[in-house]
Amino acid sequence: MKLPAPVSFAVGLVPALAAGWLLFPRLLYRTEAQPLAFNHKAHAEGGMACTDCHAVAENGRFAGLPSTESCAGCHAEKGESKTINALVASYVEPGREVPWLVHARQPDNVYFPHAPHVTTGKLACTRCHGPEGESTTPRAYQVNRLSGYSRDLWGPSMTRAGRKEWQGMKMSDCIHCHRAGGRESACLDCHK
Ligand code: HEC
Ligand code: HEC
Ligand code: HEC
Ligand code: HEC
Ligand code: HEC
Repeated sequence: MKLPAPVSFAVGLVPALAAGWLLFPRLLYRTEAQPLAFNHKAHAEGGMACTDCHAVAENGRFAGLPSTESCAGCHAEKGESKTINALVASYVEPGREVPWLVHARQPDNVYFPHAPHVTTGKLACTRCHGPEGESTTPRAYQVNRLSGYSRDLWGPSMTRAGRKEWQGMKMSDCIHCHRAGGRESACLDCHK
């Protein structure tokens, strides 16, 4: 049977688009496992505040991720939990830092200071990080095979349609929020 050209084109195009749409993200992103199954919720329930582990200091420096030494204050010895045993055996005892994979990590040429956002700007952590602080296990980390950047910079959806405000942190997302607050930033405010 010979179909008219526009029909056979359409018949080929639709599955090709569908395949590209479904397959492309899988090919583009590689998933890497976090070194340890850290549990945010267990610590919140234990009464710890976010700032016990991630603090903006007086001098504006952001502590970022907590050191192994700070974990060792409570987890110096092995116990019931497999993950705590792994923490103690692989990191606390040999005195190594845990090589966490940071979803929010920006390219090296970007300068992002937490202090103006959190201290002066009074923005909530959830505005940019979503519910990360309530997680029971770290989310899978996905890296773009071409750029080497975290998928979180773009956000989960290829089209970026219908994404939540904290999903994605491209240059346009930084600038959009700055402009919404009447702030015009120079290239070198955000780049080094
Ligand atoms: C006991 C220390 C501890 C406490 C308390 C804690 N965190 Fe964390 N946080 C960590 C560790 C360790 C990681 C790295 C592993 C991970 O991603 O889960 C992390 C990762 C994060 C990240 C991920 C950064 C990224 O882009 O990958 C965010 C956001 C975060 N924490 C926010 C919070 C918030 C908000 C709270 C309070 C509700 C909080 N944390 C409380 C230790 C802590
Ligand atoms: C305006 C958006 C914004 C807000 C608000 C914000 N962050 Fe971040 N956060 C970022 C960006 C962007 C990065 C990546 C920075 C980089 O790669 O240099 C980041 C990185 C991090 C990291 C990774 C560790 C590191 O040293 O890079 C942690 C943990 C984190 N933020 C926790 C928090 C917590 C806790 C709060 C609330 C007190 C908070 N953030 C508020 C945007 C934000
Ligand atoms: C102030 C004390 C304190 C500090 C500091 C602390 N933890 Fe915990 N941690 C707890 C408590 C309390 C629990 C929940 C009870 C338990 O499982 O032992 C817990 C549980 C855990 C668990 C087991 C969770 C599970 O679901 O099995 C891991 C893994 C863990 N912590 C890792 C860390 C890491 C990594 C750090 C450093 C970034 C850290 N903790 C810092 C008190 C602390
Ligand atoms: C409000 C902060 C901000 C300002 C202002 C800003 N940038 Fe960026 N820029 C970023 C961030 C964040 C990224 C990394 C994320 C991305 O690629 O979108 C980036 C990425 C870039 C890249 C690399 C794109 C890539 O795909 O790797 C170039 C080039 C760039 N910026 C140039 C500029 C120039 C030129 C200006 C001034 C006209 C400027 N930027 C102003 C935040 C900013
Ligand atoms: C949700 C809103 C929001 C987002 C998203 C945001 N910013 Fe900002 N940013 C602010 C506010 C508000 C201030 C000013 C706080 C103050 O000092 O009053 C600020 C200030 C800054 C400053 C201090 C210098 C200046 O221009 O005033 C830098 C640098 C900066 N942001 C970089 C970034 C970069 C890089 C990103 C993206 C990775 C980003 N910001 C994303 C709201 C945001």
